[in-house]
Amino acid sequence: MAEPKSNELMEKIVSLCKRRGFIFQSSEIYGGINGFWDYGPLGAELKRNVKELWWRTMVHNREDVVGLEATIIMAPQIWRASGHVDTFSDPMCDCRVTGKRFRADQVDPQSGWVAKFAGAVDFDLFQKLASEGESPERSTIWQRVDLAPHLRRVLMCGPQSSPDAPTGFFEMTSSYDLEMEESIRILAKSGVIGEVSTEPFLAMEIGDNPKSFTWIATGRGTNRTIKVAQEFYRRRGIKKPLVFAVGLQREDNSQRFNPENGAELTPPRPFNLMFKTYVGPVESEDNVAYLRPETAQAIFAQFKNVLETSRQKAPFGIAQMGKAFRNEVTPRNFTFRSREFEQMELEFFIKPDEVIEAIKCSVSSVQSESSELKTENLKLETSSAWGWKEWHKYWVEERIKFYESIGLPRTTLEEYWQKPEELAHYARATVDILFKFPFGTQELEGIAARSDFDLSQHERFSGKPMGVFDDELRAVWGKLDEAKQKELWQRYHDARHKYLTKTGVPAEQAARDAKEDADGLAKGNYIPHVIEPSAGVDRLILALICHAYSEDQAPDEKGKMESRVVMRFHPRIAPVKVAVFPLLKNKPDLVTKAKEVRDQLRPHMTVFYDETGAIGRRYRRQDEAGTPFGITVDFDTLGEKGPELKDTVTLRDRDTMKQERVKIGELLPMLLEKVR
Ligand code: GAP
Repeated sequence: MAEPKSNELMEKIVSLCKRRGFIFQSSEIYGGINGFWDYGPLGAELKRNVKELWWRTMVHNREDVVGLEATIIMAPQIWRASGHVDTFSDPMCDCRVTGKRFRADQVDPQSGWVAKFAGAVDFDLFQKLASEGESPERSTIWQRVDLAPHLRRVLMCGPQSSPDAPTGFFEMTSSYDLEMEESIRILAKSGVIGEVSTEPFLAMEIGDNPKSFTWIATGRGTNRTIKVAQEFYRRRGIKKPLVFAVGLQREDNSQRFNPENGAELTPPRPFNLMFKTYVGPVESEDNVAYLRPETAQAIFAQFKNVLETSRQKAPFGIAQMGKAFRNEVTPRNFTFRSREFEQMELEFFIKPDEVIEAIKCSVSSVQSESSELKTENLKLETSSAWGWKEWHKYWVEERIKFYESIGLPRTTLEEYWQKPEELAHYARATVDILFKFPFGTQELEGIAARSDFDLSQHERFSGKPMGVFDDELRAVWGKLDEAKQKELWQRYHDARHKYLTKTGVPAEQAARDAKEDADGLAKGNYIPHVIEPSAGVDRLILALICHAYSEDQAPDEKGKMESRVVMRFHPRIAPVKVAVFPLLKNKPDLVTKAKEVRDQLRPHMTVFYDETGAIGRRYRRQDEAGTPFGITVDFDTLGEKGPELKDTVTLRDRDTMKQERVKIGELLPMLLEKVR
């Protein structure tokens, strides 16, 4: 899906992120580095909060999920087994003039007139030959019988009389043919026309008005396609290119041209997105390693270790968060598509449906097979009779609930059930959770049902068994009637056989292995299947920032309304939970009391203390930072207006701007309830 360009709102958001210290361009003092971003003080807090909540929700609050923290660089065989070495690529094309690289499916479609060029010669030499042709008897070249007819053929077309000459061209729409090409080749070979190129090239005069392209019809001189073509041939060694224009045709919504200059793009080629490096001092092929492009594979590679040490049994999950690296062809839309980013991934291992059926007699079925099926009404108590489809829908719903709990309402999200032809090679089904970003509705998280693909791949590539033993299965298998055993055996066998043949295992071996795997059921053995909710931290941060950004009107010091920017973060994720202000900086009693309040709250939440500037300005600064609560210590706090208000403060709500008087002693429980 082509991602639209940023819009005005995005520009405001990007500027606020820099101004307030949420997100900076990486290496900014050196002009930045494309696709890399740093988080400033507020951004770092926001990110920590989000990750901490994800971990709490996915790991700490559950009985059935444990954590993992693996290395970024792992054995390169992992990426061969996972398919990343062979298939983790984007179609990429390059501008044939500037070399700029584009993701082929993300080139903005263009409409216009496409000029075809067959080659170029050097203008000065050609002019000289043309003028010698006026009196051939004085020219040695025109006297040569092997060259003169070819010169004549080419010059017959004559450079267009262009006011911009020598930036001229040959218009050969009707007369360029194979004979002409042969003549040019002979002249080129003889060296009489200096540098020459017969490399074909296309350029588009971008624009919707068909009349905008007039050069061929009127000979009114050069337009952009000619200039672009000349640049193309100049880069191929022709100093002053005179180009051969041999055709012109209309093309609409084409992704074959560089939107910036109209030059032809190379045909798409796969480009592997993994960053390569070398382990150890020798930069040889044997020492190549990759920065991980996803955190998931470490979970599969460590599956047996975690299983054995955590005393978990399927269904159970392993969660990991951490950096991932992808050499994206076109990083864009701020942090949305970065080259270094963080993921929060869960691999949830479940029993294959055949095993559930053996143990429970049947698998809980979904109400409908429809890919349109929504999950809103799904009940969330898990069941040991669930098959992969239930688990898949369960995790979609759980993840949406998580987003709601940190302030992204369901209305800002969309579920997209991928069509069969869109599925990755390992996926049985994938649901993307999309967020309505200002630049379009785009993926926030993918929840894939990955079958037993990954564990099977690692079993094959490492030679280490990845299956589990299930005593329940072992106990029930013998009690099943023969027909049921046969039916389950056959289904498991067929699925294994399909996987083995799809991954290129020779037929005989596939048949043998599939039978062995299916025979394993009777002994209580199987390879677990996986449901994978995989979220990007940075994309989520961007979604939260975009959703939080708002502009409204607020009164200034004198009660006059002014516009304010306010980041309406949910208090649970807000970088700073509460700001504490003494009303006046130069009143020591107020300052002392305010610092007392700050110190009371600080062990429990992030507190920002600010005593500089007018109180309205200080509120505004915190509104922009997204701080949900502001506490002001004033003269009432000191008991100057009577004992009943002593040791009370005003508590201001960022969103409603309402202020209430609260006893200092009640602040902590009151705030904790709101920010946890
Ligand atoms: N293990 C599965 C996996 O990695 P993915 O759809 O390629 O699946 C999962 O990535 C999530 O990681 C995406 O939904 C997105 O949030 C995040 N992500 C992927 N590529 C990203 C990039 N270049 N920049 C920022 N986030 C990215």
